[in-house]
Formats: sequence, C-alpha cells, structure tokens
Amino acid sequence: MKQHLKRALELLFVPFAAAIVFFEQVLIKYLNVAMAAFARLPPIARLEAWLITLPPYGALLTFVMPSVLILPIKFWAVWFGAHHRYTLALATLIAGKVLATAIVARLYRILRPTLMTIRWFAWADTHFFYWRDRAYAFVRSLPAWQKAKALIERSRTWLTGLVSGFLRARSAQERYSARMAEPRIVPTEAALGARVEGLDRTQIAKPEVASLLKKALGDHLLLEIPGAPMTPEQTRDFAAAFGKPRTQLLRYKRVEAVPEVSVMVSTLMKDGTTDKTALRSEDWHTDDSYFSTPAKATLLHSIDIPSRGGNTWFCNMRAAYEALPDATKNRIDGLRAIHAYDTPRARNRPSQRTAQEIAETPDVEHPLVRTHPDNGLKALYLNFNRLDRIVGMARAESDALLDELAAHCRQERFHYAHKWTVGDAVIWDNRATMHRVDVDYPMGEKRVMQRVLIEGDRPF
Ligand SMILES: [Fe+2]
Repeated sequence: MKQHLKRALELLFVPFAAAIVFFEQVLIKYLNVAMAAFARLPPIARLEAWLITLPPYGALLTFVMPSVLILPIKFWAVWFGAHHRYTLALATLIAGKVLATAIVARLYRILRPTLMTIRWFAWADTHFFYWRDRAYAFVRSLPAWQKAKALIERSRTWLTGLVSGFLRARSAQERYSARMAEPRIVPTEAALGARVEGLDRTQIAKPEVASLLKKALGDHLLLEIPGAPMTPEQTRDFAAAFGKPRTQLLRYKRVEAVPEVSVMVSTLMKDGTTDKTALRSEDWHTDDSYFSTPAKATLLHSIDIPSRGGNTWFCNMRAAYEALPDATKNRIDGLRAIHAYDTPRARNRPSQRTAQEIAETPDVEHPLVRTHPDNGLKALYLNFNRLDRIVGMARAESDALLDELAAHCRQERFHYAHKWTVGDAVIWDNRATMHRVDVDYPMGEKRVMQRVLIEGDRPF
C-alpha cells in the first residue's frame, strides 16, 4: 500500500518537478546568459558601473523600484484577462514575470556588495538564502526530482543533437570522429576521483560532453583530465563547461587579458621569495571558504612541473562525515564556524592583501556540516588554513573539537594523490573535498599552474 502511494505521488510529482527543473535549469540559465551579453553594450555597462557607486539606501531603492514599476503591468494583465482574452493575459503575466525575475536577479548581483553593508539587509539575506537553499536541497534529494532532472538532461541533449543535425548535415567522417571523441570515465581505486580518458578538449562546449563531465564530477568529486598545455583563454573556456568562471581575490595573480585565470607560481626559491600561497597550500583546505559564497569548484592546469614531488592530495569530506560516530554527528550538526582570511590555527601566514582586498574579505560564518545543493548529501566543511573558531564556544573547547575533526580527516582512507604531468587539467568540487600539496620538490625547479575558480553558492 505504502509502495503504491509512493508511486502515485511520484507520478504526480515528476511532471511538476520537470516543469520547475526546466524553468530553473534552462529558461533562467539562458536568460541570465542573455542578460550578461546585453550588459556588455556600452550604455548598459556604463549604467551598471554607475549603480555600483550608489550609497546603501540608494542601492536599496534601485533594487526595490523594478518590482514597484512592474506591479501596474501585472494589475493591467489581470484586468485585461477579466475583460478580454484570458490566454493573452496569461502570456503577458508569464513573459512579464520571467523578464522581471531576470532584471531583479541581475540588479541583485550588481547591488549586493553595497546592500550587504546595511546590517539588517545582510541578516535578512543570510537567512532567506539559508532557508531557500535548504528547501531546494530537500526537493533535489527526492528520487522523483532526480528522475525528472535526468529526463530533462537527456531530452535537452537529444534536442540539441537534433537541432545541430538539422543545422549542418554532418559528413560520415565527422560523425565518426564525434563518436571517437566520447570520453571514458575511469574511477580511481581510492576514496574519490576519476580519470577522464580520450577527451578531445575542443569538444568540451558540446552539451553532451559537458553534461557527461559535470555528472562525473558530481559522482567522483575530482576529475583528472590529461592533455596538452592550454593558453589562458583556452583554460577559461574549458573551465566554463563546469560553470561560470570568476576572478580570484589576489589581483597580482590574475592574467591581465583573462582575469578569470590566475597564474599560481609555487617554485621554491633559494632566496626565500617563494609565493606564500604555495606554502599555505601545504595543509588541508578548501578554496575560498573565507567568502560568503565560496567557489563551488576549482580547476588547476599544469604548465611547468618539477622533476619529482609536488603531488596534490584530495580528501573526500562526504566520506569523512559519513564515517563519524553518530554521537559526533549529533554533536556537530547545526554548529556554525567562523572562516577568516587568516587564523592563528593555520601553520603559515597568507599573502598580504591590498586595502581593497581587505575590505572585500570580512570574516564569514559557515555551517560545520555542509549539505550538497545538487544531491542533499552532507559533508564536513573544514579548512585548516581559514577556519578560526566555532560560533558560541570558548576558544579552548572550539580548538579541541576542531583538532578532533582534523585528526579524523587526516586518515589516509579518505585521501587520494594526483601525480602531475604537464598539460593535466584537474577539477574538484570544493563543497565536499579538501586538498593540499606536497611541498617536497627540488629547489629552483619551476612549478607553474593556471587556476580557474567556478562561481559557487552559499553553504547551508
Ligand atoms: Fe587550494
């Protein structure tokens, strides 16, 4: 009986969930892409640059105004529906709603740094997104949702294939090479990670290839993709298959022409001029946790590597959480922690920030146990370089708990090491992993990587 009820619920839920997934994954995504392209027009770009300079309450007014302006249009549509044709009114409402959502989302993205300086707004923002993301994660963890999502993904791939097939009739040779380009995902024997074999990197923008890789990253949390060295532009475009690349905090590392790509030089210099971030990376961390919305993934691409050593290690934080005793899980569930640009708990000090960079990196609060937004699975969210203390605990008690969790994560059964070859692209999910590097390579031998951070979401 229970089984039948569950089946009936799923039958009802799948079309509903599919409609929401379609709206969220396809419509909003492409609308945002269109808005970003629109914003590159000089007058719009100038307007957006001016909006950033607004004072806090000016920004608030600018944010609220579009909704106020759109309200009469909605009333008009309802009135029109009552007196004339219902379908036309409905179409106006839907089109208006979609457009308003896109405008408000874009405005929020531009004005948010200013709005967050208003105390009550920052509080409301934190709580609103926290509960919204929790609700999303709950719905996404339902089997019916997963089925609907897979259905949408499959039909999107099929439709794109069909359309591109019509647009250009491919020759038999092209079809053959497209089939040959199909990559294979080979999982490692360890706690996480998979190797992507046979990928033609020029095919990455194809929806079927991108969705295969995204799914593999979700399943294995770390992908190793061998290939030839890429230019910064190629690296950025390659990383874009996994999400939106974003600039990193430290400006001096950014490539001028391609600011989404940073050059990470970790060569060990005899005179001690080694970049400090190289030494900081020696201990377990997850990238960007000192931001309120840390990067969801990081891509590293090796340009120069030393003759030996310098492996990058990864830790599966989902497995680490699941392996905790139930008593510890109960004790830490719901706890929140402060992440800071630097903490006395870290072994090494980080790079100096400019005044602007300091203003951009106030301390932030994150949950100690993080729920993955794509599948609702929990993982420990620790960072030995940035995690300073647990909220509401005395320093000694907080240190003791963090030390206990750190010792748990240091167990080799959760780890995997990537051994670098020139040209490798390695991408990992920061939401359920930590990583560290072995600083054991010869002095003076060049170690240069390109790095791209992929825009993430607020931990909950
Ligand atoms: Fe890192």
